[in-house]
Amino acid sequence: PKKVVIDCDPGVDDALAILLAIFSKELDVLGITTVNGNVGIDLTTENALKIVEKAGSSIPVYRGMKKPLKKPLYSSGDVHGQNGLGGITVPKSKQNVEPISATDYLIQTGRASEGEITLITLGPLTNIAVAIQKDPEAMSNYKEIISMGGGVGVGNITPVAEFNYWVDPEAAKIVFNFDLPITMLGLNATHQTVLTPNDFHFMRLVDSELGEFLAQIHTTCINAYWEFDQLMGCVPHDSLAVAVAADPSLVETVYCNVEIATDGLTRGQSVADVINAWEEKRKNSHVGITVDSERFRDFIFLTLFSDHK
Ligand code: BDR
Ligand code: CA
Repeated sequence: PKKVVIDCDPGVDDALAILLAIFSKELDVLGITTVNGNVGIDLTTENALKIVEKAGSSIPVYRGMKKPLKKPLYSSGDVHGQNGLGGITVPKSKQNVEPISATDYLIQTGRASEGEITLITLGPLTNIAVAIQKDPEAMSNYKEIISMGGGVGVGNITPVAEFNYWVDPEAAKIVFNFDLPITMLGLNATHQTVLTPNDFHFMRLVDSELGEFLAQIHTTCINAYWEFDQLMGCVPHDSLAVAVAADPSLVETVYCNVEIATDGLTRGQSVADVINAWEEKRKNSHVGITVDSERFRDFIFLTLFSDHK
């Protein structure tokens, strides 16, 4: 299996993504690092530990940065509930957070890596940027970054910016300027797949424990998508990054330059040159364009309820 480290801010769609990564036969999750994002760092860390326990695993969890590099602290409970798990009470995990920080873990793992470890990012890029600033050499030993964030011509927190990159645009800029191959799975890609209330009902029917849990934590999310976007279900944004790590053929990409705007009207926008207008600029990203949604959905359902390792 492919070795991966997951950096995340659970977050309901992060929770589903983490479960998929742990259950997927294609992936070997070495560690999970947390960051401020959907909720504050205490909650994202606690939630990551709870999800690891839910998966019956004991993958180590490392606590990361509690605020963005330069921008003021921002975390939102609208979509993810006040506790980041749809407001559902989940018992505290028996596992403790690891004693070293997320950034130290990322660096340590990078140092020991020989280009075989993939970084999957599901939240703001603060931890990755700090690790790059501290030890670029160690960080350049990763194989690649598969990042859920950004978008081509579409936003969800401003007309042009996606939440993860908007929360910490300076961090996103550092990561995109760093010399590691990036696959960017933005809103234009993730919005091609919706998990409907019916899908969650099915999950309940096939697995009264895990399915029921997933249905419950996604209820706030379903309401929020309906209220804000008149969408009948939730978009499993973060799961796409995990699915693509497991099976890169799920998405067609364009290899091009991506730059991140940090301030003003376009704060957090991922400007993706998919038309190759700026030939002289360095191509730094494989930008997700077309998702094979049917196979992505199969990946989700089979991994959760049938193909467990
Ligand atoms: C991203 O922002 C968060 O709300 C989700 O967890 C996902 O990572 C989507 O814009
Ligand atoms: Ca997330």
